[in-house]
Amino acid sequence: MINLTIDGRKIEAQEDLTILQVAKQNNIDIPTLCHHDALEPYGACRLCTVEVTVGRKRRFVTACNYVVSDDIDVKTASLDVTELRRMILELLSAKCHDVEMIRTLAKSYDIDEPRFEIEDQTCILCGLCVRVCKEVIGVSAISLVGRGADARIDTPFHLSSDVCVGCGACATVCPTGMIKLNYTKDEVEIRPFNTIVKLSQCVSCGKDLASEAFVGFVSRKLGNLSELALSCIDCKRERESLALANRAHLSANE
Ligand code: SF4
Ligand code: FES
Repeated sequence: MINLTIDGRKIEAQEDLTILQVAKQNNIDIPTLCHHDALEPYGACRLCTVEVTVGRKRRFVTACNYVVSDDIDVKTASLDVTELRRMILELLSAKCHDVEMIRTLAKSYDIDEPRFEIEDQTCILCGLCVRVCKEVIGVSAISLVGRGADARIDTPFHLSSDVCVGCGACATVCPTGMIKLNYTKDEVEIRPFNTIVKLSQCVSCGKDLASEAFVGFVSRKLGNLSELALSCIDCKRERESLALANRAHLSANE
């Protein structure tokens, strides 16, 4: 265990944790945009910047990937830290002017209208979608392509991905709503990645269940799926209540 100070509070912490993790354990709020507890730290948005003093040296570091050490003094909301976050949020709210969560976050730092040129982008390049696809699902269907102002998240050559399993994890973690799943009768389209994946049907009632590729992907990971796993939620419920009724009937007749 090590001892550190956060915002004047003396805290004992496990030595392999980041400032963000220790702050969370102690109910100290540090804003984040590119961080997700299930993913490796990325350090891209810099919104989690805090001030760290070690001896006489003061530095600004990103709390999501800076590991704590003995006797560091952390300030999570000093004037300089707040100014830095305001600048990041002002730039983001100019770039993604119509993204509600960015505007709300900016407002919480007293930014109503940014001073910079307004753009109508939706992606903040936080990389959450790319990392969940690679680290959790393990398929890497999307990546960061292009450089500078042209940087974007996409499939290779903007072609429909042949490795995407249509799990929708990218859309789930995307904080801005950039990624959308558009369901049609037999397919799901993952926008804006120009990717279309076929849906498989519930083995019992024929309703859409999940993408064929995802069912195949889970089967490969877990071994052959039982019929129950390939049924939609309504059919699962119906079977469960039938099984319950059968059990109740049997025990009444014992
Ligand atoms: S699409 Fe969404 S999750 Fe992916 S980098 Fe952009 S904002 Fe982040
Ligand atoms: S949350 Fe730490 S850099 Fe984005």
